Amino acid sequence: MKTITIDTTISIYNSTTELNQTEQQLISAAQDASKTAYSPYSNFNVGAAVLLENGTIVTGSNQENAAYPSGLCAERVALFYANAQFPNEAVIGIAIAASNANGWVKTPISPCGACRQVLLETEHRYQQDFYTLLSGESYIYKINAAKDLLPLCFSDENLL
Ligand code: THU
Repeated sequence: MKTITIDTTISIYNSTTELNQTEQQLISAAQDASKTAYSPYSNFNVGAAVLLENGTIVTGSNQENAAYPSGLCAERVALFYANAQFPNEAVIGIAIAASNANGWVKTPISPCGACRQVLLETEHRYQQDFYTLLSGESYIYKINAAKDLLPLCFSDENLL
């Protein structure tokens, strides 16, 4: 028997002022987008902002539904829209911000499993790693590649 260990490197920033201007802008866009959430069932507002290679920032927010599984997370709303509107623009980064009844979440929220799978597909589609910024009031996480969020992933390569 052998074991393997998979490491994930996460950078932690204590304030947005430690981020570069583009990253700050992306977090701010994600925060703004969270205000467009349609979340009457969870009262949890999530915003995602996707930076494309041409400099465009595409945003999305969670869209819920009375038939609960029919809703969609902010990350997938933003990424699917970006990929549909700008199919030839690679993704450079994504920022995610969330609030509840008490305001911005203290600790960063991380994309759900289904969203990670979509992040990974986008990374493979454009054959370029992109970063993820997870914004919390207390600190911000930066992960350099979508594949780091989904070890042992299922991908297009498994279909060959
Ligand atoms: N949600 C997101 O939009 N993104 C995440 O990363 C986690 C969860 C949404 C789905 C649902 O509308 C609400 O947050 C509560 O789960």
